Amino acid sequence: MVNLESPLKANSTASSRAHGPYEPPFYNFWHHLFTPDKVDQWGETVRVELPASPIDREALRGHYDDFEAAIAASIHTCDADVLGELLERQADFPKMWNRANEKAFTRLAENGIFTSDTPSADWQTVHGLFPRGFNQLKIQNAYFPIIVKKTNAFVAEWSRFEPAHLVTGVNNWLACMTADAVIKAACNVDMDNIARRARGEPAHPILETFRRLGSINPALAKPWQVVGLANFLNPFYDTKAGQERMYSQLKGQLQGMVEQLIEQTRRGELGDTLLSSLISEKSPATGLYVRQSLLFSHFATLLVAGHETTANTMGFLMYHLSQNPKWEERLRAEIREVLGGRTKLAASDIPRLVVAEACFKEALRLHPPAGNVGRDAAHDTVLKGQYLVRRGQRISVNLVALHRQPRHWGGEFGDPNTFNPARFMPGAAEAAGRHPHAFKPFGFGVRACAGMQFAMWEAKTLIPMLYHNFTFRLVEKFMLRPSRKESFPSPSAEGLALYIYPAPGAPAAAAAAGFAATAATLDSIMPPAGEQPQLPKAGAVLFVTSTYNGEPPDNALRFAKWLPAAAAAAAAAGGAVEGLPFAVLGVGNSQWATYQAFPRLLDSCLAAAGGLRLAPVIEADTEAPGFADAAGECWGSLCPLLLAHFKVAAPSDSSAAAAAAASAPRLLLEAAGPATPPLTIREVLGQLRAYGRATGNAAADQAEGNGSTAAAAAAAPQGFPYDLLRVVSSEELQAPGSGRFTRHVDLELPQGMSYAPGDHLEVLPRNAPALVDSALELLQLTGHEAFWWTPSSQGAARGLSSLHPTANPSSSSPATNTNRTSNGPAAAENAASPAANSAADVLRLPVSSRDVLAWLVDLSALPPMRLVAALAAECPCPPEAAALQRMATEACYKEQVLGQQLTLLELLARHRSLLAAGLDLPRLAGLLPRLAPRYYSISSSPAGPAGPQRASITVALVEFSSPTGRLHRGAASGTIHGQQVGLYLAGTVRQLQSRFRLPPNPATPLIMVGPGTGVAPFMGFLQQRAAQQQAGAALGPAVLFFGCRTEQDFLYQQQLQAWQENGVLTDLQVAFSRLPGKKQGGKTYVQDLIAESAQQLWELLHGSGAYVYVCGDARRMAPDVRAAFEGVACGVGGLDAAAAAEWMREMRQQGRYLEDVWAS
Ligand SMILES: Cc1cc2nc3c(=O)[nH]c(=O)nc-3n(C[C@H](O)[C@H](O)[C@H](O)COP(=O)(O)OP(=O)(O)OC[C@H]3O[C@@H](n4cnc5c(N)ncnc54)[C@H](O)[C@@H]3O)c2cc1C
Ligand code: HEM
Repeated sequence: MVNLESPLKANSTASSRAHGPYEPPFYNFWHHLFTPDKVDQWGETVRVELPASPIDREALRGHYDDFEAAIAASIHTCDADVLGELLERQADFPKMWNRANEKAFTRLAENGIFTSDTPSADWQTVHGLFPRGFNQLKIQNAYFPIIVKKTNAFVAEWSRFEPAHLVTGVNNWLACMTADAVIKAACNVDMDNIARRARGEPAHPILETFRRLGSINPALAKPWQVVGLANFLNPFYDTKAGQERMYSQLKGQLQGMVEQLIEQTRRGELGDTLLSSLISEKSPATGLYVRQSLLFSHFATLLVAGHETTANTMGFLMYHLSQNPKWEERLRAEIREVLGGRTKLAASDIPRLVVAEACFKEALRLHPPAGNVGRDAAHDTVLKGQYLVRRGQRISVNLVALHRQPRHWGGEFGDPNTFNPARFMPGAAEAAGRHPHAFKPFGFGVRACAGMQFAMWEAKTLIPMLYHNFTFRLVEKFMLRPSRKESFPSPSAEGLALYIYPAPGAPAAAAAAGFAATAATLDSIMPPAGEQPQLPKAGAVLFVTSTYNGEPPDNALRFAKWLPAAAAAAAAAGGAVEGLPFAVLGVGNSQWATYQAFPRLLDSCLAAAGGLRLAPVIEADTEAPGFADAAGECWGSLCPLLLAHFKVAAPSDSSAAAAAAASAPRLLLEAAGPATPPLTIREVLGQLRAYGRATGNAAADQAEGNGSTAAAAAAAPQGFPYDLLRVVSSEELQAPGSGRFTRHVDLELPQGMSYAPGDHLEVLPRNAPALVDSALELLQLTGHEAFWWTPSSQGAARGLSSLHPTANPSSSSPATNTNRTSNGPAAAENAASPAANSAADVLRLPVSSRDVLAWLVDLSALPPMRLVAALAAECPCPPEAAALQRMATEACYKEQVLGQQLTLLELLARHRSLLAAGLDLPRLAGLLPRLAPRYYSISSSPAGPAGPQRASITVALVEFSSPTGRLHRGAASGTIHGQQVGLYLAGTVRQLQSRFRLPPNPATPLIMVGPGTGVAPFMGFLQQRAAQQQAGAALGPAVLFFGCRTEQDFLYQQQLQAWQENGVLTDLQVAFSRLPGKKQGGKTYVQDLIAESAQQLWELLHGSGAYVYVCGDARRMAPDVRAAFEGVACGVGGLDAAAAAEWMREMRQQGRYLEDVWAS
């Protein structure tokens, strides 16, 4: 069912489509009147004298005493005080629609609401009626559902795009949405432009005609814009007359259509609308009806004012968000939090979207759709007590300049020309003492925008939902050009085109199947105190979860605490879970005894609490062959159940969309030019840390700002946690000749990083150099090429495995080899700090091809079966394609891929035509899984002799040959083993959810079982006990069962024996599996020694409340040891098998039988 064919194709098309060339930037005189240097020289108000145009002269002659002074000289200002005065003295400074460019527009819409003089009866009449149609209450109650419906339609259409699809004409898409919304709201007509756009059809005839009219207004447009071809073919063609004819014809058509609409409204067929009130109500302001002949003008000006303005601002915003991942992430975090577990925004949510509002306002500040707002003096007067203004003279408030004046917008917010929505976060204006009139994108006074609230609600609905569902990447080489037009029609980010991807966790596939779905972590839907979680009241919930040693994942702890109690008292849970259709997808590794423990618990508790189980727990086993395929197909198995439950017919393309969504590229990478030097990995790490800090702080600030302390707490630990850990010593623990390699590595922790015995160290691994070399050779790369890497911002904020930079200097690109070994962590941080600020804004990092292959992708990954099938379809060479097709059948796949452990790289090396067909590094990186961090039990204690800033790990080297003869050297263990003293590893301390900690009372007996590197945490425990002993504490008994093959791999032998001598360890039992032992058959394992010590152990367990700790191999050792302890309970304790199992269950529940085990 999963089809990978399409993403590959989409990628190739996308990357081959270059944008540009672009026209050179247009120099906009008005936008440069008030640059800071000019303001310093001339001040914020100037007089500009330009010869009046013939039309101005004609229109205004006779109206003014001093014609030249009034008309030829206009006053331009970006002074907020002047604006304030215009606002206070509105009668002295009315809006007049009389200049040449304005008059040109009246050819389309004379005396429309936007295009009429304030003193005119026409404006006063319509103004009295208009706000009734677009007031706040009306928006909330009547128009918000329209906005939501249009938003959903928009998201549904974009959900159909395959990952990495290039969406061109973004502004046009947005304008379809805003035009649809405003016309539906004002006239109750659904123009359906979003669907038309999606089908590639022309816009609704009203909009289409309107747009064409705008482009050929003979008074505004250049002749060649429309009739260039006719002119070219026939030099005697009468351009002007031809254009006039076309204009009149189109205007006639538009008028006809609008007349029809007016008639339908008159007949009551379209219900009560703004249009109906304009037709039938008297204006409370003048007591007059709107003149019938002006209804068309009002409609046309509404369309002008009400759709491209909002659409283009949203386009600018999307551009800026693509450059500012920090804000993009804040926007996403906000919508996640506001939605909780819900799928749709409610009207009451809109005021809570403060980040969305701040972002939109910041786009409005930088790119006000109306760049100038003019007022004319009604009589000779003085402005600001100093400037003489003549009757009829225009005072033009330059909003572009006003919005960028450093005195209002600079300071702590940085350069006013840069995008920083913090300027509009709650309290920011007050804190900065900002001038009340410094921001006026919607105009001011009685002529201020009538659709301001409508625009804000539209933007605050569409933008958050877009970013909730998708991530975007700006098309290569996009140039944001200042618009060629001065202020009208509104400027736009011309040519905006974005690659689209499903947002992490965004249910694009569900949406494509017709479900409006949303994703949230379980703890994010828990209210701060004791109430019910915010589970949806309608629809269904799919829980996707893992487990760690039987515990819930970190982001479900509060939910997991609530759940069993709720299940026990089903009545209490009734409100949240009763009747809720649900399914659980559990992801785990069957080697763990606690495999699927939490998913199963979740499932049973939800059912007990009254939930409606749609399917038994879907269990995905990472250990099972073909896991990648199976996990990808889970949606496929669930989707029909959901469709059946809701009695919905499956849309024909849902499976393809699901497959496409499931196969979004895993790593965003694009080629950078030769002029872009790649960063060293050390610098990358510094950038990510800076970014992580910025996003973490922002999320925490934001959550606090919202009054959500729970969310603030959740946000606080965010950030990129990995740091540089200096290797202080590295010592081989195996005796020569053992044939194995295990190192004790001492690391210096940076300030602020601390740990407790039992914690883990999370290390960022690196593919073996030989593997990287063969990948480079395959792709015909030198290793020095630069690629732009866009790390997942969510990953950066949470320090997840999506980001795997490290500071291992030896990996860095050759250009930066100098200083590597001499620079410490502080130097690395400092080196990154100039870019660190920008890292918060622009998280696109140039990385060398070698580092991409070394650090970011798992080169040892086997290709899932569906990928083999997709590659077969892509393969241009028929024999190779046929071989791949065969390999993609189940039996062959098992034998040739799983059986042979055939990696994707090996597969490509055998089918090189795929590479010739364009499978390059960005695409390969998008197909490979990311290199996941590795855990190591810390084998020291902060109370130990090396002190709290040192931690050690005990690492066994993984090295083996695959059936194909490939030598595999462990990505992490190989890196750690190869690292020189004095250099660095990247990692962090990870406090996992397990209770693998020493008991609080040192007198409590301990039984520790740790063969091989499983001894690691016990070295930490014993160091801690040694320190406690030195401090005079009375220690209880401590027994350690250690296992190894022979004396050669008896790790830490001397140290353990020394502790035994001084009583830190009271009993050291060593099982040698390759020496003749007491056990029959020779091989002795730890479980055998446990059985032999049954009497002593039972006394400790039963009589003294001992704690048992087991660490190491999950596959065989851990289950055997559990069985051995149950055997002790049966043999010495006299329990039967069932009672022994129950005893074991209780021990685990009480936290007295603890495991820290892994698949080795
Ligand atoms: C909580 C926890 C604590 C841990 N503590 C420690 C610790 O203290 N010390 C320690 O050394 N490790 C520990 N590990 C394991 C460690 O995290 C890594 O998994 C281990 O070092 C291997 O990682 P790698 O990147 O070197 O190997 P990888 O490159 O990931 O290679 C390992 C993979 O190769 C496979 N493999 C191994 N041998 C063969 C073979 N002969 N034939 C075919 N396939 C094979 C394995 O199944 C595994 O899938 C711990 C793991 C966990 C989860
Ligand atoms: C981001 C979006 C918008 C911006 C920046 C904006 C900006 C403006 C500005 C600056 C004016 C005043 C012009 C002047 O004083 O000469 C104005 C007027 C107007 N706007 Fe908007 N507008 C937006 C969206 C809308 C929408 C969505 C509607 C309709 C629903 C709308 C309807 C109007 C109308 C009817 C007027 C004329 C008001 C009057 O003169 O009485 N606008 N707008």
